[in-house]
Amino acid sequence: MNQQLFEKVDRYIGNLLAPEDPILQEVIQSLDDASMPQISVTPTQGKFLQLMLLTSKSKRVLELGTLGAYSTIWMARAIPADGKVITVEFDPHHLRVARQNIEKAGLSDKIDLRGGKAIDVLNELISKGEETFDFIFIDADKPPYTEYFELALQLSHPGTIIICDNVIREGKVLDENTTDERVKGVQRFNQTLANNPKVTATIMQTVGEKEYDGMAIAIVN
Ligand SMILES: C[S@@+](CC[C@H](N)C(=O)[O-])C[C@H]1O[C@@H](n2cnc3c(N)ncnc32)[C@H](O)[C@@H]1O
Repeated sequence: MNQQLFEKVDRYIGNLLAPEDPILQEVIQSLDDASMPQISVTPTQGKFLQLMLLTSKSKRVLELGTLGAYSTIWMARAIPADGKVITVEFDPHHLRVARQNIEKAGLSDKIDLRGGKAIDVLNELISKGEETFDFIFIDADKPPYTEYFELALQLSHPGTIIICDNVIREGKVLDENTTDERVKGVQRFNQTLANNPKVTATIMQTVGEKEYDGMAIAIVN
């Protein structure tokens, strides 16, 4: 695997087609300043999420796992003015940084940042009869991905796109004897995805600035 080449080409594509404006650059800087991990999506992946939102004419978006709101901002920018992104984060430190970044980006009206565990917020949205979402991006902790996906389906309508990040994990998904709970979580999820007649799905491998990985893409039938 030529990681250096993948990084260079990813940067080449990003500079051409997904250049970060000062707001997005500041979000990335804010993660370093706040000693948070650099595990946001890449610019080319942010642009990919935007393309998915535009092609599906999405207005209502749900995200699990906000970190500093980098992907949230990419997505909020691709939905109409009366659209909404509900994004869920359980770490209070990440929540504070995300809130500041959303305010700086001028997107507080479009982004509804919810504090809490993803599983609890999903159950709450379902029990309160929340309107369905057009697009759901799952990017929180990996062990419960299957449960997140099953609950996300209850908040979907035919045509809803559900994207789940980090489901290949540098190819470790092939290891049947893994003891890594994150790998086990995505193995279980990928199998669920394959067996679920409610969706049409595939997994795209991702290479580039971040580690070799993959995104599951499902459309609700
Ligand atoms: C990979 S980061 C999200 C990156 C973000 N989507 C982006 O691309 O900019 C994962 C985030 O999920 C949060 N998280 C982990 N477990 C969670 C849970 N059970 N409920 C809600 N958020 C969780 C972590 O604190 C972290 O901020």
